[in-house]
Amino acid sequence: MTTPRLLSERGGGFHRRQELRPSGRRWPGAPRPGAAGRVLIVSNRLPATVRVEDGEVRLVPSSGGLATGLRGVHERLPGLWIGWSGAVGTLPPQDQRAVDRVLAGTGARSVPLEADEVAAFYQRYANGALWPVLHGSAPEGPEPADWETYRAINERYADLVAEEARPGDRVWVHDYHLMLVPRLLRGRRPDVRVGFFLHTPFPELAAWRALPQADALLDGMLGADALGFHVAAYASRFARAVEALRGVPAPLVSGAGVLDDAGRPVAVHATPMGIDVDAFAARSTDPQAQELADGLRGDGGPLFVGVDRLDPTKGIPERLDAFGRLLDRRPDLRGRARLVQLAVPSREDVPAYRALKARVETLVERINARHGTADHQPVHYVYGSVDATGLAALYLAADVMLVTPLCDGMNLVAKEFVATRTDDEGVLVLSERAGAAAELRAALQVDPRDPEALTAAYERALDLSPAERRVRMRRLRQRVAAYDVRRWSDDCLARLAPPPAAQPAR
Ligand code: UDP
Ligand code: G6P
Repeated sequence: MTTPRLLSERGGGFHRRQELRPSGRRWPGAPRPGAAGRVLIVSNRLPATVRVEDGEVRLVPSSGGLATGLRGVHERLPGLWIGWSGAVGTLPPQDQRAVDRVLAGTGARSVPLEADEVAAFYQRYANGALWPVLHGSAPEGPEPADWETYRAINERYADLVAEEARPGDRVWVHDYHLMLVPRLLRGRRPDVRVGFFLHTPFPELAAWRALPQADALLDGMLGADALGFHVAAYASRFARAVEALRGVPAPLVSGAGVLDDAGRPVAVHATPMGIDVDAFAARSTDPQAQELADGLRGDGGPLFVGVDRLDPTKGIPERLDAFGRLLDRRPDLRGRARLVQLAVPSREDVPAYRALKARVETLVERINARHGTADHQPVHYVYGSVDATGLAALYLAADVMLVTPLCDGMNLVAKEFVATRTDDEGVLVLSERAGAAAELRAALQVDPRDPEALTAAYERALDLSPAERRVRMRRLRQRVAAYDVRRWSDDCLARLAPPPAAQPAR
């Protein structure tokens, strides 16, 4: 089997990434909630990451579910997206002006971060300590100085949002980097409505309280008017943490309810993020994507596919191990079955991510050494990112899509795969520990921490009858289509409508 074309471009790397042109584009004809004012999206990661090369500013799409999912929401609604451009440190003034101009053209404003702030706020506190805690692991014991930087950067965000917000605007803050912003913003701008959405899980009480700053973070979030989570279990765990902090009951029903913040209501809701279903479905018939998919499928042996940021929560080593075991167990698959694993570079300066990269590379080499032959390489490991066409090709080529995180807030890749398979083909093996599992019941669900169960799920995926495969995929597609990203954002933002008393008289 020769290396498929998609995987061999640019010296064995992956497809180049598409560049974004500043356009300020909006969906034509989309309703503009004029009376309700603008929507200010606030997140650490902007949808485009800035690269300055030889004085020229380029924007490349940012990776990760938050950026990819909210991009369309931002294009549809009038407003501004405030966040970090990915640029580290102070740029020469002319470069900075060019960056600001290019970002302004896309409706974005950047929050500058110095190199030591990126290290303390982003790498050590947000991703070295908070991210693992939210996913149920023990924290690395964050340094007090890193926490102070986290707080200072949250203040900077709040200052900037307070400066930009106009009366009547709704501010929608996203994710764990900015948990203090709702409270800080309320102090600065009590006149604007503030929502907060957490894209990660919320952990059990013991794991949460192991974080020394747990109470301060919780209080920061409670400054919002509406707090959103992907699934009811996360909202309920959050409510337990609030009860422990405040010593008063915080009752929720199916993840929804109203908590009290010193007499002010805080609406809590569980609203699962969706995807742009039509866009993914449309790509399934793109001739270029189909041609690339044909190349990936190769000689017809079963193809397994994984697409993830290279993150410790995604269960990539466990997934590879299970594939190795499948080949050990099933001689009929040797020389035929392949796994394409796309690992999108992520947080490369955080030690746990560097260690994971080395571990994954070793595992891939081991499986290929054990089961590879002169003309068959079982694992194609690609460390890089793809554009929309390359992604559609991977989804279309997969006989079995492996979405097996150890713990994941939602996992949009699972939904994107399903929406792309308008041919009703392909099997989704899905971790029961992903938020998406609550909706995608028709997937083959598995506990990825159980090696035996994981290998068994791969075998089952291969053995499903064509009829059962199609029935399952149709059910999955219906489910994903029933609640897309537009409905999700509309529902979240509807909770930020002004309270009845504040509405102007008709
Ligand atoms: N993705 C990307 N670049 C790639 C491959 C995938 O940006 O090269 C996108 C993918 O389409 C999906 C997102 O990254 O929208 C991953 O989101 P998910 O919710 O699955 O996980 P996260 O990375 O947010 O933890
Ligand atoms: C997850 C997080 C997002 C983050 C994304 C990419 O989806 O929930 O907040 O933006 O990963 O990670 P990065 O560190 O590159 O922003």
